[in-house]
Amino acid sequence: MVAAGAAWGALACNEQGAASSSPPPDVAAAAPASASALTPAVRKEAEEVFNSRCVVCHGPRGGGDGAASAGLTPPPRNFQDKAWQSAVSDEHIEKIIAYGGGAVGRSPAMPPNPDLADKPVVRGLREHIRGLAAK
Ligand code: HEC
Repeated sequence: MVAAGAAWGALACNEQGAASSSPPPDVAAAAPASASALTPAVRKEAEEVFNSRCVVCHGPRGGGDGAASAGLTPPPRNFQDKAWQSAVSDEHIEKIIAYGGGAVGRSPAMPPNPDLADKPVVRGLREHIRGLAAK
């Protein structure tokens, strides 16, 4: 604000301040710090990795209906399932991507991706998966 520091200025700012300072905290609350750290490059990389490594089982829209899903029991997760989306934590999604189903008490048919484990693309994949939820 203006540094002209008169009492009048402070009063005037009060009103404006209340109106204009509310959006930033809301935005910050809606987006976890980890999500805001994702760059466009990471998002693009995540999409490419999803298409090359995940679609074969999870399907192009994450419906759990990829070409290699047929013989799998349990089947690959359907990411469009809203109940699953709200029940699962971001942490769990990132962990299963990096370390595989066997590491988190799920089917070992869900493969680990050790080469990605400590890379931002794991968060990108998590965000991509979140974006596949049914609207
Ligand atoms: C060979 C097939 C296969 C591939 C490839 C595959 N998945 Fe999976 N995925 C599965 C199966 C099967 C499950 C179900 C595991 C279960 O419910 O026990 C699963 C489950 C998941 C889950 C949900 C875990 C849960 O607890 O519900 C996530 C998230 C996931 N996969 C992400 C990915 C991502 C991201 C990729 C690509 C990097 C990928 N998967 C590649 C087969 C696969």
